[in-house]
Amino acid sequence: MLDPQAAEINEVIAESNPHVFDMLSERGRAIFFPAKGILAQTAQASGKGINATIGTALEDEGATIGLSSMASQVVSGDTNLFAYAPNLGKPEIRGAWKRMMLKKNPALREGGISTPIVASSLTHGLSAAGALFVDRGDKIVTPDLFWENYNLVFNYAYGSEFDAFPMFGGGGFNAGALRQKLLGGGAGKKIVILNFPNNPTGYTLTVEEADAVRDAVVEAAEAGNNIVALIDDAYFGLVFEGGILRESIFSLLAGAHERVLAVKIDGPTKEDYAWGLRIGFVTFGCARGGAEFYKAMESKLGGSIRGSTSSSSNLGQALLLRAYETPSYEAEKAQKYEVLRRRYKKIREILDNRKEYGEYLRPLPFNSGYFMCLEVKNGKADEVRRILLDKYDTGVIALDNLLRVAFSSTPYELLEKLFDNIYNAAKEAV
Ligand SMILES: Cc1ncc(COP(=O)(O)O)c(C=O)c1O
Repeated sequence: MLDPQAAEINEVIAESNPHVFDMLSERGRAIFFPAKGILAQTAQASGKGINATIGTALEDEGATIGLSSMASQVVSGDTNLFAYAPNLGKPEIRGAWKRMMLKKNPALREGGISTPIVASSLTHGLSAAGALFVDRGDKIVTPDLFWENYNLVFNYAYGSEFDAFPMFGGGGFNAGALRQKLLGGGAGKKIVILNFPNNPTGYTLTVEEADAVRDAVVEAAEAGNNIVALIDDAYFGLVFEGGILRESIFSLLAGAHERVLAVKIDGPTKEDYAWGLRIGFVTFGCARGGAEFYKAMESKLGGSIRGSTSSSSNLGQALLLRAYETPSYEAEKAQKYEVLRRRYKKIREILDNRKEYGEYLRPLPFNSGYFMCLEVKNGKADEVRRILLDKYDTGVIALDNLLRVAFSSTPYELLEKLFDNIYNAAKEAV
């Protein structure tokens, strides 16, 4: 199944030089740099007075958020940092990340998970894990609201297809629909991808929903399915309400069943406000594991990394490691968390107070992360986005019938105006 963007580019290559087109592999024919979608919409919003398209976090004054424990080391003069890091990552940072993971997820057992392997970002970690588990024609079970780049990472690169279920039902996560997907189609290998806090919705499971997800996965495993659970924890820790799962869903799945392999893909990109460092981690957890098993799995993933980027940035790892050893690191993080939580609370207040928005817009459930989504009731989300750009000096992302609003990059003082602008544009897009 070729994306129309890939087909368009293929035509250009075939017309310009059919010999080169003949040289392309099946994967080469499927892949393309997405000129439409989120990246293009973000580019169109560049320079607008209010820009709620950006998936990084900005201070209210507009500067990029950063932890001073990292920023203070940028001029280091240490030439050792130009050396290669080990292929699987510096042992010290692998150990530090594991210790921090165990602290942030008290339900995990030290011996129940592997030592994290360093990848060159979460995207690379997802891709390296995909190389191990995704075959051509495989179906990947996912909620229907997911980060669009999964298409390139999995489908166009490895030839899989998504088997999506409606993410929400009855006002919360639709664990019943997930259960049906995992139990459907006869026993076999099932791959599922879960991402909380979610991009684009900003939703994290409640504690009860997380239990229901674990139960569904275990039930499917009991029925003879072998389940690979890819867990994208990019926005881990940014939860803004009570009663919501504070640990990763990895904690609940890592030791759930011998037929369940949980693969945690996480990193400092969003958690530590270090988007450009390009460091991520991949960690395995399985009820039937043990030290030798985890070493063997490390070798598998290590091979996938060795054959793609070979190793990850030494400079990035060194900088992070020093930050993690800085006594003020936790306090710095807490302060940045508060910047985002304050904006989240403000949006809740705006939505509570402005009942008139309900005629045109419906917020999807959200409680965490960088984003929230508004459903445009008449379905014309892209038209609303265009009106916002042209008339209201405002950028948001349109995804089908939804608008994704990044409060991570919108100053607190502009939030009311942002939502009023969206409301006014929605009124006009009839
Ligand atoms: C859900 C999700 N996973 C992964 C990433 C990318 O992380 P990285 O920049 O480390 O590749 C993003 C960034 O937008 C994301 O939203």
